[in-house]
Amino acid sequence: MADPATLTTPGRRTGGFGTIGVVGAGTMGAGIAQLALEHGHDVVLFDVEGAAVERARRRIADGLARRVARGGLRDEAAAEATGQAMARLREVAAVEEVAGSVDLVVEAAVERLDLKRAVFATLDAAAAPGTLLASNTSALSIDAIAAATTRPERVLGLHFFNPAPVMPLVEVVAGAATTPGAATAAAGLVAGWGKRPVAVRDVPGFIVNRVNRPFTLEPLRLLESGAAGVTRIDRAVEAAGFPMGPFALMDFVGIDVNLAVAVTLFEGFHGAPRFRPSPIQRRLVDAGRLGRKSGRGFHVYGPDGAPLGPAPEFAAGPDAGLPEAAIVERIVLAIVNEAFHALGQGVATRDDIDLALELGARHPRGPFAWADLLGLRHATALLEALAAAEGERFRPAPALLEAAGG
Ligand code: 3HC
Repeated sequence: MADPATLTTPGRRTGGFGTIGVVGAGTMGAGIAQLALEHGHDVVLFDVEGAAVERARRRIADGLARRVARGGLRDEAAAEATGQAMARLREVAAVEEVAGSVDLVVEAAVERLDLKRAVFATLDAAAAPGTLLASNTSALSIDAIAAATTRPERVLGLHFFNPAPVMPLVEVVAGAATTPGAATAAAGLVAGWGKRPVAVRDVPGFIVNRVNRPFTLEPLRLLESGAAGVTRIDRAVEAAGFPMGPFALMDFVGIDVNLAVAVTLFEGFHGAPRFRPSPIQRRLVDAGRLGRKSGRGFHVYGPDGAPLGPAPEFAAGPDAGLPEAAIVERIVLAIVNEAFHALGQGVATRDDIDLALELGARHPRGPFAWADLLGLRHATALLEALAAAEGERFRPAPALLEAAGG
């Protein structure tokens, strides 16, 4: 949380970084710009779509006002503090203008590799040699993005979570060529913004988007099979201590964003069945039902974004009555199993994986803590039973079998 004094003190900055550039003014770009403004930076913002920049401006002003209010400022003092922070935000009309005078650019454009590579090539040509270029990509390869530049050693991933001003985790992704100095400097910057940086290798989905993939894929499979419906699944998951049910979360993040991550992971894991994207999501995206931002997804939303209830076909949809404990158990076991897959492949340490899920997805406990609570042998037996009944995707990870047998 920013010290309200920061908002009222122009020029206070973090970690030796001055002006921050942001490319992409969607939900994430706006959130990252807001964070940088909160911490005293000047911010240069670009989006191909003028209307997106306008929306971002309103959203940032609104977010800053909430922070100022939380810091105890009221009325005129609050309006003045917000106005002073907003005065440090400058929009530009071309992507190369973002790079001109900044120490770091964070790209948060749509999840398309060709587009990101074009943006990075342009930024690279326009930026000073020392400027760090970071992508907020959810799941694309940092190496593949960095290869479009002449400075792969100064290209990295800075993966924030939605809502960026609030969620405490940032995955700091070093590509094969990223220098330790670049990664350390970027980690220091986000730590100064009150975030917990976690170092991650450049693997599909990094930690959270990979290990937490079953949080949305398993509920979608339950919905596909008619075993349980949207409302009951969301309620069961919330009752288990998660901040949002999976369908509410997909609507919140954007069904298109969630699907893009699912597709990237499915491709990154060479079509492994456990990562198969759901046809339900694809159908919703094709119909323009992207969740909260389009007013309709699994739920319907009012003009102010407040949920009005499940969309009619999901309210009435089939629900064969799988017990709520079984719904939660299946989702948690699949996440535990994926955490062991990631651990076995050296993606990160046990502690960092637990921390990442607690802070990046606000799970009530990390997957290894959950495995310990269940007991490793018991978790393995439950997964084997699910694999026999439901399919290969539940087959226990080699690292889990090893840990349970030892
Ligand atoms: N700017 C400033 N403050 C904000 C804000 C914003 N943009 N959005 C929310 N807040 C503040 C609110 O003002 C509120 O502050 P207060 O405590 O002072 O009143 C606080 O955050 C909590 O917000 P709300 O009271 O509105 O709502 P909740 O308490 O229900 O929390 C939530 C909302 C933080 C979204 C919570 O439900 C949550 O943690 N959900 C899980 C989100 C999650 O899993 N995110 C990760 C998604 S995956 C991802 O991003 C990866 C990507 O690659 C796809």
